[in-house]
Amino acid sequence: MSEHPILETRSLGKRYGSRWAVRDLNLLVYPGDVFGFLGPNGAGKSTTIRMALSLIRPTTGEVRLFGRSLRSDRSAALRSVGGIVERPDFYGYLSAVKNLEIVGALYGGVPARRIWEVLELVGLKERGNDRVKAYSHGMKQRLGIAQALLSDPELIVLDEPTSGLDPQGMKEIRELITHLAREKKKTIILSSHLLNEIEMVATRMAIINKGELKVQGAVQDLLKSGEYRVLITGEPLAKLKSVLRRHRRLVKAVEPAETGMMVTMDREHVPAIAAALVRANVRLSGIIPRRSLEEYFLSITENATES
Ligand SMILES: Nc1ncnc2c1ncn2[C@@H]1O[C@H](COP(=O)(O)OP(=O)(O)O)[C@@H](O)[C@H]1O
Ligand SMILES: [Mg+2]
Repeated sequence: MSEHPILETRSLGKRYGSRWAVRDLNLLVYPGDVFGFLGPNGAGKSTTIRMALSLIRPTTGEVRLFGRSLRSDRSAALRSVGGIVERPDFYGYLSAVKNLEIVGALYGGVPARRIWEVLELVGLKERGNDRVKAYSHGMKQRLGIAQALLSDPELIVLDEPTSGLDPQGMKEIRELITHLAREKKKTIILSSHLLNEIEMVATRMAIINKGELKVQGAVQDLLKSGEYRVLITGEPLAKLKSVLRRHRRLVKAVEPAETGMMVTMDREHVPAIAAALVRANVRLSGIIPRRSLEEYFLSITENATES
């Protein structure tokens, strides 16, 4: 790729005591990416983001932003970056506008016009003069994004922006992220512990687990790679099984699943199997693709919650 990355981590690592929270991490984020940073709880997402925003110092390696090293060129590297780490903190007894003024003062002051602009962008214009303590959790998250947008950065880093939100709140944040990427041409990094969240908005993604990078690439490529497995459900089950047996040529493996049969096969054979099942009068209720990345991610997530 000829394009230069906006963010690059080189052998980035952070050790706390004897434990590595992040280890030998090499991430590449390019201009225009909505970069999904996926990992179960404790994987090292927030630690990585803190290092990327220069809030903590790496134990090994380095972060480069816009081609500049955070170590040697910190203020220039951070000039076009805005971010929130975990839950943003606000003064509850002050209005959103007042809170943003306080944050803006850190940049040497931000004009009132800009404050109202970012409030409008995140859908809080009508509530700008209300005290933040009266805000819902979703509104606070959006105010956090407004804060990250204040200096009009090219790169916006959001750590689990949808965590703790209800489905409607999650959807609003997703729409906001898509809007910022498409209309405002921002590059966005967002972390999440939910694959489907990332899948819905991200163009590229990385998965980390226990501090280490597992995969990185275009979301589309990653989700279609690997073996194709489909969960086929229908009634009667005995007939479904016998049709699959008769078409052994087309399927690589069949295992019983909770609600039907899990079939491994080439994607191109799915229509033939579906047609055969219909011909045999199986009342099909579902042919559900199960992607290997999804299963893989679920398996590491389960292991993470056990430990
Ligand atoms: N300040 C700290 N001191 C010690 N351990 C920490 C600290 N911050 C994070 N960790 C540990 O680093 C690991 C990664 O944490 P974190 O980056 O918060 O994960 P995530 O954001 O993916 O849930 C966890 O095991 C966590 O307990
Ligand atoms: Mg975190």
